[in-house]
Amino acid sequence: MTVTSNGWTTVPGVEARAGKFGGPSLIPMLMEIQQRHGWLPREDLVALAREQRRPLYEIEGLVSFYPHFLTSPPKPVTVRVCRDLSCWLKGSEAGIKRLQEQYGDATDVEVTEISCPGRCDIAPAATVGERPVRVEDVGRLVAEQSHGDARHGDVVAHGPEGGWPNDPYGPGVQRYQALRALLSGETAPQQVLDRLQDSGLRGMGGAGFPTGKKWELVRNTEGSVKYAICNADESEPGTFKDRQLLAEQSHLVLEGMLMGMVVTGVEEGWVFIRHEYGPEEDVLRAEIGRLHELGLIGDDVLGTGRRLMVDIFTSPGGYILGEETALIECMEGHRGEPRNKPPFPGVYGLWGKPTLMNSVETFADVPIIVSRGAEWWKGQGLDESDGLKFFAVSGHVEMPGVYCVPMGTTIRSLVELAGGVTGGAEVGSVQPGGASSNFLGPEHLDVPLDFGTLADAGSMLGSGAVVVMAEGTDPLAAATNVLRFFRNESCGKCVPCRVGSTKAYDLLEDTLSAGAALSDDRRARLLELEVVMRKTSICGLGQVALGPVVSVLGRARGATSARSQPRE
Ligand SMILES: Cc1cc2nc3c(=O)[nH]c(=O)nc-3n(C[C@H](O)[C@H](O)[C@H](O)COP(=O)(O)O)c2cc1C
Ligand code: SF4
Ligand code: FES
Repeated sequence: MTVTSNGWTTVPGVEARAGKFGGPSLIPMLMEIQQRHGWLPREDLVALAREQRRPLYEIEGLVSFYPHFLTSPPKPVTVRVCRDLSCWLKGSEAGIKRLQEQYGDATDVEVTEISCPGRCDIAPAATVGERPVRVEDVGRLVAEQSHGDARHGDVVAHGPEGGWPNDPYGPGVQRYQALRALLSGETAPQQVLDRLQDSGLRGMGGAGFPTGKKWELVRNTEGSVKYAICNADESEPGTFKDRQLLAEQSHLVLEGMLMGMVVTGVEEGWVFIRHEYGPEEDVLRAEIGRLHELGLIGDDVLGTGRRLMVDIFTSPGGYILGEETALIECMEGHRGEPRNKPPFPGVYGLWGKPTLMNSVETFADVPIIVSRGAEWWKGQGLDESDGLKFFAVSGHVEMPGVYCVPMGTTIRSLVELAGGVTGGAEVGSVQPGGASSNFLGPEHLDVPLDFGTLADAGSMLGSGAVVVMAEGTDPLAAATNVLRFFRNESCGKCVPCRVGSTKAYDLLEDTLSAGAALSDDRRARLLELEVVMRKTSICGLGQVALGPVVSVLGRARGATSARSQPRE
């Protein structure tokens, strides 16, 4: 802490709060207005400003930032079609064109393009109203919705026969035993920390920070009030494993989170979930209700005198909200722009309090590690790798879906598990860790999927999304599709990311649409932009946005040398 000349106390590294407004968050109020009308009528926004005594420009700043908010009434039926990599590989461009022709003149149906809604297993995917659907089934759903059926659909099950291997509770076995043992004192908080540290569990949200160390840090940070957040924003193209965990293992996600809260001294926590995961949010809400009934959430859990509360915060949209500090800004009621780090959320998080944030998969791994021990967990991995890992596999494979495999499984084995490449073709390239990860060629198929091995191969484990491209797919066109996603999702806070991603995309789009080869001059320009963005962007989005493009520049359109993932 620093005490300034006027006597105010500041935390080093925390940005000026200029443009950020005190008072309760207006985001839930805006969500409620949108829920009521289907959009945000101007007079309601003016009334909200008056009621809450807040400037209208604050409200306009929020509304213009979050893609979920609409300032004009949508048509009665909205069809939103995904254009990102897994869907692009399965022909979304033709699907969008066909739907636009089909409904172009309709007064009651509107067709728009969207970023990945997390349904890459049914690519090319769309949503009709709130309901996810394959593009080929849009017509049927449009007809249903025109007749007033506005359900948001059901969860999809990918669970293997015999259940998921990370679930310590088989059929008929009482759940939440690890949490109960912690609450009763049978397991001490230090034992939980030791098991997590010994297990080598690392965060599955992308950065791979050691989980035991993060929990210890938050536990040891002074503060009478601390918070916990489960990051269920999952919005990176190709990534849908957390959706599956929420749908089929919400008991493990919540148990891991509650254990984290007990160990670090937190009373209140939230699951921050993307608004497109309506069916999964319903499952989660029901499980939270069950926890209340079991006495494991409430003002006095199991008569221990300890208060534990968990609620759900539904995201108003945007990939950037998955970045931990942008997520916190959003929950505080601001535009979801990342903060400069440090300080990290474990020290200065939600409302300035120490905050434990983990991804869905990380929390879901905790109960089994604590129940069965670190050695058991490590033994689940192959060779040098530890534990189990969930992957979402999509693109050109016969059976896209979520697979839980030993960490260290090779890319080849995982592709085989997903039924192999569509139509028996060979693998052309793979993005092994979501949109942020560098492309790898067929010479890397025997690389074990793990943090270190993928880094050594020039890519990364990232968001746990393996996108497979068959031979004959132009890697530069695929990487340009990925770049378009980052350009669209850049929050615009820093110039290198905002301007750099646009410049690079325009340059590539111009080259590809002319059917030309990339000139030396343009190649040099891209390489220069990549370095500038990597070194000067303040968050991971801008730092990696051009990595996938640069990773395919070494390939003579189908040749195989990939460039190393930047690690500076
Ligand atoms: C642009 C961007 C998007 C991200 N999206 C997610 C996300 O959807 N889910 C997630 O858990 N982490 C995401 N992260 C990583 C989080 O910032 C954070 O590291 C993570 O939630 C910490 O949890 P872990 O330690 O369990 O991985 C994202 C990071 C960046 C830079
Ligand atoms: S790097 Fe991009 S997404 Fe991240 S803060 Fe800067 S402008 Fe926003
Ligand atoms: S749903 Fe299209 S890329 Fe994910």
